[in-house]
Amino acid sequence: MIAGGGVIGTAIAWRAALVGLAVTLVDPDDDADKASLVAAGMLGPVSESVFGERDLLNLNLLAISRFPGFNAELEQAAGQQTGLRTEGTLAVAYDGGDMAALNRLTAFRRSIGLQARELDGRRCRELEPFLAPGTRGGVLATGDLSVDNRRYLAALREAARKAGVATLTGAVTAVRQGAGHVRVTVSGADAELSAPQAVVAAGWAAGKIDGVPETIRKALRPVKGQILRLRHPRGMPPILTHTVRATVGGRDVYLVPRADGEVVVGATQEERGDTTATAGAVHDLLRDAMTALPAISELTFAEVSVGLRPGTQDNGPIVGLAAGLIIAAGHFRNGILLSAATADAVTELLSGREPSAQWLPFAPGRLG
Ligand code: GLY
Repeated sequence: MIAGGGVIGTAIAWRAALVGLAVTLVDPDDDADKASLVAAGMLGPVSESVFGERDLLNLNLLAISRFPGFNAELEQAAGQQTGLRTEGTLAVAYDGGDMAALNRLTAFRRSIGLQARELDGRRCRELEPFLAPGTRGGVLATGDLSVDNRRYLAALREAARKAGVATLTGAVTAVRQGAGHVRVTVSGADAELSAPQAVVAAGWAAGKIDGVPETIRKALRPVKGQILRLRHPRGMPPILTHTVRATVGGRDVYLVPRADGEVVVGATQEERGDTTATAGAVHDLLRDAMTALPAISELTFAEVSVGLRPGTQDNGPIVGLAAGLIIAAGHFRNGILLSAATADAVTELLSGREPSAQWLPFAPGRLG
């Protein structure tokens, strides 16, 4: 039994079914409440790497090396495309202070052996001609990828279905360890299941499930993100090729282009658990996006959506055994990127083996 049908739970379900396990995926089937569907789909271990998160960076590097192979198998199995893009990420700085911050981050990345190609403003605008004329400079991360998170989840669902994963609509409210089995209470379906193994992959809501150890429940919190979807009007050529991460007056904004003409603009990061879209967030995201790339104003406004990232106290995921359960939660800003590697790790655990060493710092035992 797997609790949670976002990208983490569904990727695990698919891979576990492939190794011959009988899998039931339990999910409330409420797409309005899925961080996986709100995400931008950036796969940027380098661009997301910051000071002091070395273990997370190592894990993200494992995840990005795994992603293309996993994705190719997924597209084949599902018979659907996920919109993987390989142009890389261009991080740009708008003013002198932004440039100084970007330079510090670049020096840190180099110091730990990561590649980062520095570009002046002119070269940035050769790569992305619609960047603001005043763009100071940037750094190109060629290894970064992006995927259309919605197509990716749809493909995972289809591959899981084809592999024989059963689904049950409802929210897991309790998991209780018995002798050789786990009893699972599902509200909505008004059902109680008994399963030899249970995987808790319910994002930040894993913290609401009775029977999940208190240290894990306490470590999880929702971190609100508001994100916009814009579209090119019919016939308008694409204004963006790379994922662009811009720092504008000290604020970060990212723009992720899709092959079908969508541009995703994100994201706020708010210590709140509500899912209401606010005028201020839409304003701030559009202001910063248009400062970095003025041509954004020509696109049509398609959507504002709100998701709750599963945050943890050290920003790292929680993956491993705890109190007879397998936990796969707390992926925070890296859920799409880490999904394939998490599915591998949990499939190992389900088969009684150890996951790769990069997962060791993220075991539930570290919390306390
Ligand atoms: N990974 C991007 C975000 O969480 O906004």
